[in-house]
Amino acid sequence: MAARCKTAILISGSGTNLQAFIDRVGCGALDLELCVVFSNKPDAYGLVRARDAGIPTACIEHGQFADRSAFDRAVAAKLDEWRPNLLVLAGFMRILSPDFLTHYAGRILNIHPALLPAYPGLNTHQRVLDAGDRWHGSTVHFVTEKLDGGPRILQGRLPVTAGETADQLAARVQAIEHQIYPEAAGWVGEGRVEFRDDRTWIDGVMSDEPVIRMFDRRGKRL
Ligand code: GRF
Repeated sequence: MAARCKTAILISGSGTNLQAFIDRVGCGALDLELCVVFSNKPDAYGLVRARDAGIPTACIEHGQFADRSAFDRAVAAKLDEWRPNLLVLAGFMRILSPDFLTHYAGRILNIHPALLPAYPGLNTHQRVLDAGDRWHGSTVHFVTEKLDGGPRILQGRLPVTAGETADQLAARVQAIEHQIYPEAAGWVGEGRVEFRDDRTWIDGVMSDEPVIRMFDRRGKRL
């Protein structure tokens, strides 16, 4: 049997997506080895979740470094103690430098709360409501130098409800993230999904469009 994919999860905050990974691995539904949870913030609640699950943790605060590159070098040196095959950004609120991305080329995933390529950047839920969009969701993608612009893997879509607030919409989007992020990371861990020539390959086929999962208003998969 192939070795399990050693996976580092990088967080800055609450870590509900991290918890979804922990729960899936714990019940045997996801075949990844969660080797370390890293945070740039010592008070990130995700560190508590990791410790409770018996996963090693590491924390380096970015404030103590002169620049982004110096911080990123320190993070890479720390992560490499676990020799991760895959890095999962789960609410990690730092832009990564080109050298860091080269070091882990094709091995970094992110989830962005929008139907990319629509709405890269911040405040996606309010922007969707302001635009009157009927659909919203979240996208798992490989990380490249283009912010929120790397090749997409899996996208979860759900209908926007009339009159809901940005917070309500955010909560519904997060609930579907907890389903699609572990699923997509599992595909990468199994080698079914790869990053090659700056593109996503799924089961050996170059795939410029992500796999789409549709959900209803309550977050139930259709
Ligand atoms: C998620 O909503 C994700 O889309 C964004 O950051 C948020 C992290 O939330 N990249 P949590 O810390 O996993 O709860």
